[in-house]
Amino acid sequence: MSMTAKSRKKILVTGGNSGIGFALCTQLVLEHGCHVFLGSRSRQRGEEAVASIRALIPAQHSGSVELTEVDVGEDASVLSAANAVREALGTDDQLYGLVNNAGIGLAASVAAEEVLNTNLYGVKRMCDAFVTEGLVSDRVVNVGSGSGPGYVHRCPQPTQRALCKTPADWKAIEAMIAISADGMTGLHSEADVNGAYGLSKAMLALYTMLFAEEMPNILSSCVSPGWIATKLVAGSGATKKPEEGTLSIRHCLFESLSGNGWYYGSDCVRSPLHFMRNPGEQAYDGVVDDVIGL
Ligand SMILES: NC(=O)c1ccc[n+]([C@@H]2O[C@H](COP(=O)([O-])OP(=O)(O)OC[C@H]3O[C@@H](n4cnc5c(N)ncnc54)[C@H](OP(=O)(O)O)[C@@H]3O)[C@@H](O)[C@H]2O)c1
Repeated sequence: MSMTAKSRKKILVTGGNSGIGFALCTQLVLEHGCHVFLGSRSRQRGEEAVASIRALIPAQHSGSVELTEVDVGEDASVLSAANAVREALGTDDQLYGLVNNAGIGLAASVAAEEVLNTNLYGVKRMCDAFVTEGLVSDRVVNVGSGSGPGYVHRCPQPTQRALCKTPADWKAIEAMIAISADGMTGLHSEADVNGAYGLSKAMLALYTMLFAEEMPNILSSCVSPGWIATKLVAGSGATKKPEEGTLSIRHCLFESLSGNGWYYGSDCVRSPLHFMRNPGEQAYDGVVDDVIGL
């Protein structure tokens, strides 16, 4: 990817102060010459992250970074971030891309509602406030997880699996969440966090498909970053560095893609929504097969 071709693309990354998001912001600035709006819900953690990236930028380099305070779990915070970014861009400019990276829910014991509010509704909040409102010109990348297809595969609800074919609308996604919350999937059981996490990422992949239908002029993707050593999976044995978790995100930001709304594995290859396709395995052909009775 040539520096000239990518220079000065403006990209907002949520959860940019830590883990994969921080690695991505650093690479976008240093390797792609972008102007990055580093999203952080904590001003202090965000300022520290911005300062540490700025310290690495060589003189005369085209890349740059600024802080955007945004808690994706709060309507008011997202709206205020959208206003701040609009002001920073001025009247004639747009973000090239939005990366919805902020996520919670694997290692920490957080309530299921909070997991969904961040990982799914948080992305929708961002898309509504930034993309639907015309602040983004080209690409949206939603950071999903292999837990999404894993969840669908394990899910005992055929109606939920059937959604893999095509999400009818946002109400259908909400209905699926309501069914899950009724107790079928461990949302309120011991497997709470993984259940809610998997559900949130499965619904995020579906939402990405839906959003692509609604906004066909924006190329939207959902990706798995891989199993990456960050605070999200602390103690899980993950060994890959955060820098290695950005491949599929950058692929979907910058490369030509042959479909809109698709879900990609960490190796940048299209993956199914109903079972976990491991890196190196055959690409998904888009057909929902009868392995799980669809
Ligand atoms: N690591 C993996 O193996 C793995 C695998 C699959 C998917 N993912 C996905 O990758 C993404 C990044 O996670 P990570 O592994 O890099 O974990 P991480 O180091 O814990 O980073 C998560 C980031 O999200 C931010 N965040 C959480 N809730 C937020 C909110 N309400 N508003 C704004 N920011 C919020 C965190 O901010 P604070 O620092 O303030 O908490 C942090 O910056 C997540 O979507 C995760 O689900 C990771």
